[in-house]
Amino acid sequence: MNAGFIGIGKCVPPQVVTNADLEKRMDTTDEWIRTRTGIEQRHIADENTDSSDLAYQAAVNAIEDAGIQPEDIGLILVATVTPDLPFPSVSAMIQDRLGAKHAAAMDVSAACAGFMYGVVTAKQFVESGAYRYVLVVGVEKLSKIMDWEDRGTAVLFGDGAGAAVIGKVSEGRGILSFELGADGSGGKHLFQDRYIQMNGREVFKFAVRQMGESAESVIEKAGLTKEDVDYLIPHQANMRIMEASRERLGLPPEKMSKTIHKYGNTSAASIPISLVDDVADGKVKDDDVIVLVGFGGGLTWGGLCIKWGR
Ligand code: UT7
Repeated sequence: MNAGFIGIGKCVPPQVVTNADLEKRMDTTDEWIRTRTGIEQRHIADENTDSSDLAYQAAVNAIEDAGIQPEDIGLILVATVTPDLPFPSVSAMIQDRLGAKHAAAMDVSAACAGFMYGVVTAKQFVESGAYRYVLVVGVEKLSKIMDWEDRGTAVLFGDGAGAAVIGKVSEGRGILSFELGADGSGGKHLFQDRYIQMNGREVFKFAVRQMGESAESVIEKAGLTKEDVDYLIPHQANMRIMEASRERLGLPPEKMSKTIHKYGNTSAASIPISLVDDVADGKVKDDDVIVLVGFGGGLTWGGLCIKWGR
């Protein structure tokens, strides 16, 4: 029995902050941000909106897309490094708000790779028969842990949420393979004290190497070759990192997801948000072989190879 994606949804806050807006606030330029990162704008939540609000709305959309009821969900996993509070978890908060009264709830902390960790965990519970449906949400309100005086990080990140209902899908479809990994020795390169602290160059080098390796690994584990891959959805951290992964797989530009220009880096939310936009735009279709790869603070990484469709 194969677990797969049976419903997806997203939520981004309405306020858009453009590179031109940032030029007025700090010593940076639209030109630098675009050419070094690919980012043109990001969505930023207001003070009355926290991670649980974004997660809730993305979850509502995913549950509706799946055509199930909140009561049908057995487990809620929320991947976030920006919970409203250390506890209760965001997953418990949305469990109540959704009326998912039969669901267990816990948060997953694996930074930008968190959604990958959540989906792989969900897959185990679905395929073991323990839960029929698992809701996985990647959500961040990174704006609350960003130092708006630090141009090295403030221009990179955005707020948002993406969600998926994981359940049993039809024969031949679903999650074909996965990879998860961590290297805690690199934790010093990307962490939060009060604000996000990052050694951009070190994270960049790690990301280029790891995204390529994870993509190749999940393709091989699925018993496929690069030629079988229809579409790549890399974590939207930096266009140059994404391009390196795409070139390593030998895919043309139109076969890689690119949403970073609209949302910036939304950490755990970037992959599911991209998935929602790409399915809506017809870039991901039933029976396509798609590869999802993410990396982040920890350092952590994760990949999935999926035959898309319910
Ligand atoms: O989700 C995972 C989290 N993070 C990442 O994936 C980030 C990975 N790293 C990166 O994406 C890139 O390293 C950055 C985009 C963060 C930086 O790009 P870079 O090409 O590695 O630039 P750099 O840090 O080497 O800085 C180059 C120059 C420096 O000036 P000097 O020393 O050459 O005079 C910086 O001070 O660019 C300067 N700079 C800026 N200039 C204008 C750094 N940030 C900015 C800025 N605006 N926002």
